[in-house]
Amino acid sequence: MSLLIEGGHVLVEGRLLRENVFIDKGKIQQITPQRPNADQEINAKGKIVLPGLIDCHVHCREPGLTHKEDFYTASMAAAAGGVTTFFDMPNTHPPTFDIEDLEAKREMAKKSLVNYGFYFGASSNNIEQIKKARNIAAVKIYMNETTGNLLLENDTIIEEIFKHAPRIAVHAEGEQIRKAIHLAKKYKKFLYLCHISSKDEIALIKKEKTENIFCEVAPHHLFLTDSDHKKMKGLAYMKPVLKSKKDQNALWKGIEDNTVDTIGTDHAPHTLMEKKSNSPPAGVPGLETMLPLLLNAVNEKKLTLQKLSELTAANPARIFGIKNKGIIKEGYDADVVVVDLNKEYKISNDALFTKCKWSPFHGKKVKGAVDFTIVNGNLIYHHREFERIRAREVVFSG
Ligand code: DOR
Ligand code: ZN
Ligand code: ZN
Repeated sequence: MSLLIEGGHVLVEGRLLRENVFIDKGKIQQITPQRPNADQEINAKGKIVLPGLIDCHVHCREPGLTHKEDFYTASMAAAAGGVTTFFDMPNTHPPTFDIEDLEAKREMAKKSLVNYGFYFGASSNNIEQIKKARNIAAVKIYMNETTGNLLLENDTIIEEIFKHAPRIAVHAEGEQIRKAIHLAKKYKKFLYLCHISSKDEIALIKKEKTENIFCEVAPHHLFLTDSDHKKMKGLAYMKPVLKSKKDQNALWKGIEDNTVDTIGTDHAPHTLMEKKSNSPPAGVPGLETMLPLLLNAVNEKKLTLQKLSELTAANPARIFGIKNKGIIKEGYDADVVVVDLNKEYKISNDALFTKCKWSPFHGKKVKGAVDFTIVNGNLIYHHREFERIRAREVVFSG
């Protein structure tokens, strides 16, 4: 089925152009002032047409933790948030430590409405499995304590993984970041530093970064601080924890000076009951609030649309070697989101599609909303309605 996105302003090569986008056979066929006949039309007058977001950091919770989320509900939240591809993290039950677990996840993820990729987990004894894993985003090493039992503290084992894994992503905080960078340089490896959250960390990364080392920040660290943690308690508790205003400013500065490469949600849903308990688990959902919050930041002149799109689409595709995604270009995959930069609304728990049904941003007013989400050329989300069309696993190259 062909599709015409008509009358919008389209982000092409960093500029907003008044063009129509003709989509057929899953691809962007033409960016044109013409109006080719299409089976379906989307009226995008007054709207902005962006490449669909690629979220490099999502905990879909399947298998084993599906009372919090599963691939289907995570993908609904993603679609409602303009995210057309996500990479799933390995701290499930069981964790993704061997090929069998990975293959099982591949089956489970087939119900996803958005495209997906997987991280592979590093344990103290799965190096042979790591060597065999194919088409993964990276091997994820937990170098600090967080949700799940995936912490690796043995330096010899960590070094062995850096030696053998082609690409490594780390949950590393503070001094552990220095260690990860040192090993990435020693073995000339791709290193993706997840959810960097402090001023000191940004300063270190700015100094030590190479063309193989990449830095992610998460929306909760950009839009919340430790004072929100005090107010919201467990609901604003995640790892790394929320930091000071000074740290937050450093993250924004890091975005400006290109120390930061990507914004990834670290969508980490837990139930409200779990979060309101005496020992709440770390993590907050973020898939459907990231883009509205960032659009709101564009309206507040904290960010340009071009930069937003680089951090959430073009850079993820380039860094992880996903061909034909991340920008709007003829011949590229038709993963597209149509947003309304002028629509104002209040983020509300009731309106969320994540299974956990709450957000640390509940009650926050934003200007900027997702209207239409297109995945592989199919309109799968518009104005709170979903079309149940399955998406597919991405191919990582490089
Ligand atoms: O807050 C967090 N939650 N940080 C992590 O690193 C893991 C995540 C989770 O899986 O809940
Ligand atoms: Zn983490
Ligand atoms: Zn995470």
